[in-house]
Amino acid sequence: MNCNLAVIKGDGIGPEIVTEAMNVLDAVGEKFGHTFSYEQILMGGASIDVHGKPLTEEALEIARNSDAVLMGSIGGNTSTSPWYQLPANLRPEAGLLALRKSLGLFANIRPAYLYEELKKACPLRDEIIGDGFDMVIMRELTGGLYFGERHTEEVDGIKVATDTLTYSEDEIRRIAIKAFDIARKRKKHVISVDKANVLDSSRLWRSVVEEVAKGYEDVTYEHMLVDNCAMQLVNNPKQFDVILTENMFGDILSDEASMITGSIGMLSSASLAEGKFGLYEPSHGSAPDIAGQDIANPIATILSVAMMLRYSFDLDEEANAVEQAVKEVLADGYRTVDIMSDGMKQVGCKEMGQLIIEKIK
Ligand code: IPM
Ligand code: MG
Repeated sequence: MNCNLAVIKGDGIGPEIVTEAMNVLDAVGEKFGHTFSYEQILMGGASIDVHGKPLTEEALEIARNSDAVLMGSIGGNTSTSPWYQLPANLRPEAGLLALRKSLGLFANIRPAYLYEELKKACPLRDEIIGDGFDMVIMRELTGGLYFGERHTEEVDGIKVATDTLTYSEDEIRRIAIKAFDIARKRKKHVISVDKANVLDSSRLWRSVVEEVAKGYEDVTYEHMLVDNCAMQLVNNPKQFDVILTENMFGDILSDEASMITGSIGMLSSASLAEGKFGLYEPSHGSAPDIAGQDIANPIATILSVAMMLRYSFDLDEEANAVEQAVKEVLADGYRTVDIMSDGMKQVGCKEMGQLIIEKIK
């Protein structure tokens, strides 16, 4: 198979972790007889520095014409980086939002599970963890507050800012279908998260989810209010299989879910359009404070490559090989500093990538 990828290395640790992920892809290509070709594009701060804006039309066009997009992370330190002196529509994040919208990447899948080997890093008590947890957050990614009309005005000498939260039935239906589909391949339970005791958009969300659920008699589901969900994640994470939720709730809850695994450097994500096209990136951010030191953990990006192989290219065996290689390297006791514990062998970003490649070969 020949796969043409658009690659966004991005800012902070992005370039280091993506380089390792590309090396892993090349190793997969060599072993299984595929060719991965890469076209690098700029986005976020890296693009601002060169073009004065976070995403150019040309870069977008390259992404649009690719088979899938591999991304590192974008953005800098929000209090010290000059990028944050710019108007909101020219900041690094605006590039990512525009890319998601333009490419129709409405379904964001963020797995959060506890690695047996990394149990000690989990901040929750043993009796809460039990035999571990394994959930997937299905976050709607191109609607809601992040894409609604917004403005700041002055009314009678007082500044007033407005953001609008809009969802159509169609937007809710397509993400709900994705959530129920993925639940079918897992433990067959969907928890749909909303704020239906207050918001109209959430009441519509609930009714559409109920309608979609009728087509999935083998999948059980329930509704949960978002504030309760935030609490339940730390109180009883085992109850979750698939969490289905709108854009902002998903943004917040996915950070919380990744934090309770104790290993945010390990969590991958996929943002999918209708069909096979997707963008794959780690769940974590650009960590500018540790950039360029060869200490970042490349595993989340490498596992995002596994998701790419599975979801965009239907290469299940290849995806399994990558995931298996990561497990074996952890079992051998190798750790980057973020997941380091007593008695383990600490390695840097490059060495971690290399160890995983050795296992794939
Ligand atoms: C994420 C990030 C983005 C988001 C930012 C960088 C715009 O927090 O992918 O979760 O809010 O979606
Ligand atoms: Mg976020």
